[in-house]
Amino acid sequence: MKVIIVKDYEELSRKASSIIADALQRKKPFVLGLATGGTPEGCYKELIRMYQAGCIDFSHVITFNLDEYVGLPPHHPNSYRYYMEEKLFRHINIDPKNIHFLNSKARDLEAECQAYEEIIKAVGGIDLQILGIGRNGHIAFNEPGSSIDSRTRVVTLSHETRIANSRFFSSLEEVPKKALTMGIGTILDARRILLLASGPTKAEAIKATIEGPITPAVPASFLRIHEDCTLIVDLDAGSLLSSLNKN
Ligand code: F6R
Repeated sequence: MKVIIVKDYEELSRKASSIIADALQRKKPFVLGLATGGTPEGCYKELIRMYQAGCIDFSHVITFNLDEYVGLPPHHPNSYRYYMEEKLFRHINIDPKNIHFLNSKARDLEAECQAYEEIIKAVGGIDLQILGIGRNGHIAFNEPGSSIDSRTRVVTLSHETRIANSRFFSSLEEVPKKALTMGIGTILDARRILLLASGPTKAEAIKATIEGPITPAVPASFLRIHEDCTLIVDLDAGSLLSSLNKN
């Protein structure tokens, strides 16, 4: 894994957005995998700024979001669909028919997950997948214990993840217990992966991801077997890495 260490969240957001902007210019159509959560917000703001400045075009971009809570309708303010509309899609020239989400209100969730895999395949696979990392090392909603060949499926969120995400809800009880998520195998099929990590709460997970064993106990560690995965990490999230602590 290539590791880029940046000073802070602002630099991480600028670096990530410039990598994405550069990639989007190189291929048409371009299939972009997207994450939600606090980490990519700054990057999405930068992409909007670049679009408004006329430096970037999304008309040829096809998107697939990583995951969605089960039980929240698309217009619910805590759904990931709503997040993406607010934080990115409604500000740029993406064609709505190119936006893909797991429909967590589908009657048959297993069939919905299978269909998502098929659509990704039908458009030729994901060119660039953006990822955040959970404090427990999860990627998308692949919690510790997820296997390397897991595919898009229904998962139960760990208590730790529900607590971490409760900051976006008014109470812990409101955080859904289940989600739909791309699997680790699905993510590893992307041609290129960009993992973003910021802040001290991610330091343990980043150390385990980069320096620990490759293990289902730390799902992000599986990214080390990918041929083209870049981690952008700020000084706080990277603070436990040996390379930053050599003296
Ligand atoms: C969100 C997702 C999650 C987050 C992770 C980190 O689509 O897939 O894996 O990337 O939970 O969340 P933040 O960025 O809020 O710390």
